Amino acid sequence: MIHPVDPRRDVQRKFPLLGRLLPEPAIHFFSAYFPPVYLSHIVGIRSAATGKEIEGWLVACPLTPQRMLSLPLERVYRKIIETGRLAERLGARILGLGAFTAVVGDAGVTVARHLRIPVTTGNSYTVAVALQALREAAQQIGIPLSGATAAVVGATGAIGRVAARLLAREVPRLILAGRRAERLESIRSLVEAEGARTEIAKDLYALREADLVLVVSSSPVAIIRPEHLKPGAVVCDVAQPRNVSPLVAAQRDDVLVIDGGIVEVPGEVDFGFDFGLPPRMTYACMAETITLALEGRWESYSLGRRLSIEQVEEIARLAEKHGFRLAGFLSFGRPVSEARLQWIRARALFPTGHIRG
Ligand SMILES: NC(=O)c1ccc[n+]([C@@H]2O[C@H](COP(=O)([O-])OP(=O)(O)OC[C@H]3O[C@@H](n4cnc5c(N)ncnc54)[C@H](OP(=O)(O)O)[C@@H]3O)[C@@H](O)[C@H]2O)c1
Repeated sequence: MIHPVDPRRDVQRKFPLLGRLLPEPAIHFFSAYFPPVYLSHIVGIRSAATGKEIEGWLVACPLTPQRMLSLPLERVYRKIIETGRLAERLGARILGLGAFTAVVGDAGVTVARHLRIPVTTGNSYTVAVALQALREAAQQIGIPLSGATAAVVGATGAIGRVAARLLAREVPRLILAGRRAERLESIRSLVEAEGARTEIAKDLYALREADLVLVVSSSPVAIIRPEHLKPGAVVCDVAQPRNVSPLVAAQRDDVLVIDGGIVEVPGEVDFGFDFGLPPRMTYACMAETITLALEGRWESYSLGRRLSIEQVEEIARLAEKHGFRLAGFLSFGRPVSEARLQWIRARALFPTGHIRG
């Protein structure tokens, strides 16, 4: 299940005329009155391990993130459940909740209770893929994890909580950032128990000390601005919609921002709908649902905000077995060139020095 993230762009993908004519506030408003939308039939996914082929469907909950956050929760649940019932009628045996449909309320628990098929948020595999991308990008830039300061923005969330615990095993110093200091404080000892010296950020300027930043916050608008980041930093933005401002791309050629949580699907997949990624790529949350289907695990795998390290490790193993691979780096939707990596590498080594490009 997906939903419009960038209202005009995404509505145009399904309803070109409507998307072009309606102003953005009107899309937000009308999205509450729109029924669930059938988007496409997915074919061609084939397990690299067993050769098994599966099919699926993309369905859309019409609500935008802003609407999901402003409408009464009961109304949002009802719309997500209605969209889930459409998936049931199509013949789906498991439902994956994408982006904000997994963020609102209790992260899938209530929705799953009202459907006959199992439901997963995809968050366990998203954690695995985001950390893998961060590790790989750090290596490319020449930042050894064993000496790095890392930060997790949105550390109290479903993805952030377990991602922070896993990162704390790999770096000596970890900064937990988010909206509410008292909530961050409540998970500090849990994270610290995994190894890293852990600090709570007062605000996003604390990110200026971080070599690696994992962005897993769920703000409906961008929150990380150019002045928040250290020269040579690697930032992995998993949030949908993006939580790193496009100004960072425009003004900070000395940091690497990668779009997190994107993988390549095994087989000759045809999603039948352009949801904004290059061919054969998908979001890790969708990949978790596909992995469970390939594995025949018809169960509600990731629900709620207390995911375990074991869940993350198991789904990563299963996805790898069936042939999912980390996609090449994209930054604000565009491939990252080797020249760009070299440039940032130099800035990481000589942050204030004069460098010739
Ligand atoms: N790329 C993918 O495949 C993929 C897959 C799944 C999810 N996602 C995206 O990942 C993000 C996180 O998902 P989640 O399920 O972990 O969400 P979540 O459980 O709601 O957690 C969100 C976290 O962000 C914090 N936060 C919210 N607004 C903030 C703001 N304005 N400033 C700073 N921190 C803020 C929250 O703080 P509080 O605790 O104080 O509320 C919480 O710690 C979402 O954007 C989601 O759409 C992407």
